[in-house]
Amino acid sequence: MTERGCSYSAWAGCLAGDVDSRRPSAGVVKSATLDMSLPKLDKKLSTTYLTDTSRHLETPAFVYEEAAFDRSLDSVAPIRQATNCRVLFALKAFSFIDVLKLMEPRLDGFAVSSLFEARLARDALANAGTMHLTTPGLRPDDIGEIASLCDYISFNSLGQLGSYRDAVARYTSVGLRVNPQLSFVDDDRYDPCRPHSKLGVPLDDLEEAVARDRRSLDGVEGIHIHTNCDSTSLSPVLETVQHLESRLGGLLAEMKWINLGGGYLFDEAEDLSPLLEAIALIETKYGLQVYVEPGAALVRRAGYIVSSVLDIFTSDGRRVAVLDTTVNHMPEVLEYGYEPDVASHVEDGDYEYVLTGSTCLAGDVFGAYRFSEPLDIGSRVVFYNAGAYTMSKAHTFNGVNLPLVYALDSAGKLTLRKRFTYEDYAERWGAGISVTV
Ligand SMILES: Cc1ncc(COP(=O)(O)O)c(C=O)c1O
Repeated sequence: MTERGCSYSAWAGCLAGDVDSRRPSAGVVKSATLDMSLPKLDKKLSTTYLTDTSRHLETPAFVYEEAAFDRSLDSVAPIRQATNCRVLFALKAFSFIDVLKLMEPRLDGFAVSSLFEARLARDALANAGTMHLTTPGLRPDDIGEIASLCDYISFNSLGQLGSYRDAVARYTSVGLRVNPQLSFVDDDRYDPCRPHSKLGVPLDDLEEAVARDRRSLDGVEGIHIHTNCDSTSLSPVLETVQHLESRLGGLLAEMKWINLGGGYLFDEAEDLSPLLEAIALIETKYGLQVYVEPGAALVRRAGYIVSSVLDIFTSDGRRVAVLDTTVNHMPEVLEYGYEPDVASHVEDGDYEYVLTGSTCLAGDVFGAYRFSEPLDIGSRVVFYNAGAYTMSKAHTFNGVNLPLVYALDSAGKLTLRKRFTYEDYAERWGAGISVTV
């Protein structure tokens, strides 16, 4: 994600690069659908057409490209074809209902982290398929409803397993999240196997518990692991499975299923064979049903944040462009300090700007980017590869509204799907509520 200026869709590139920068940004979209009547989204798109589109698109906007979801789903299709592995989508990466509906027919189900996510998937989808849940934050008040919605619950600790197993076992298959204590991620902030991790039962502790009393795992039918982040290599999954096998072989043989989690960018992986080998090992040697639950891999490349320049000025000798979006629409920029991909950024562009968000937070800054044309008030700046963990983490600090949500179909038609209103904002802060506790 830190690499900028690599490939992006022709649409995003044209939208960002070819705008008429003298024209102020768009007014209100009159109809929900902007029919661009484009034959296809390719590089032949006329600049005039895109200038027009840009003018109509209200910003800040989150645009999701329907065809890109198809391409991401294509990347996991070989896993489903070559093995019996079932592929779920981890809702935490992006939960827009229309997108879940697009994915539903090409997946086996969904992975959720809370009661709300579970309810959303079940309420919104006619056939949400298999639903898995794991979370370190299971609440006693939620467990009953969660068990009625989810087919598989992987408890995060032996304590929670002990507390809830009997209550849910009639409704759901009980699993245990295991921390294999095998790290592949250098940055502790993303590493589920970091020292003193809160995510899953450490393998050492699990072995000890089983040695002490095998009955501590009574009723457990599955193992959940999730140990990586944005990995384009699938070798760590094979290594992890081999590691588990060497330590838990006997226990694996007693299970019915294993969930290998997410954390792998199947859409960017050059070689799926280590994963296929891991799945084959589990399926043939232990006869377990295997699941994977990618998040980012299925949505990151399908999302764009389109913003407009609100102001430009010089500060300590550098040009600052204030955008109508904010890092709070892409919170991982601040959380993890990465610089997001900006369309039309060129390494040797003559015009450099520090792109900032529009809140009062000094650190609301995306980074320094270069363009071959100067930006002006109203110019569009498009962030690409912005589909994962943006809208699902976005918030309204300073009262800056959330982006409008547009769908871009494969014919190039943009449809406004969601506009967040002042009422949404005010409701969150208690408008219209008077409750005596
Ligand atoms: C348990 C679990 N499963 C799946 C995922 C999805 O991971 P990713 O979006 O990296 O594929 C996460 C992400 O945090 C997770 O914690």
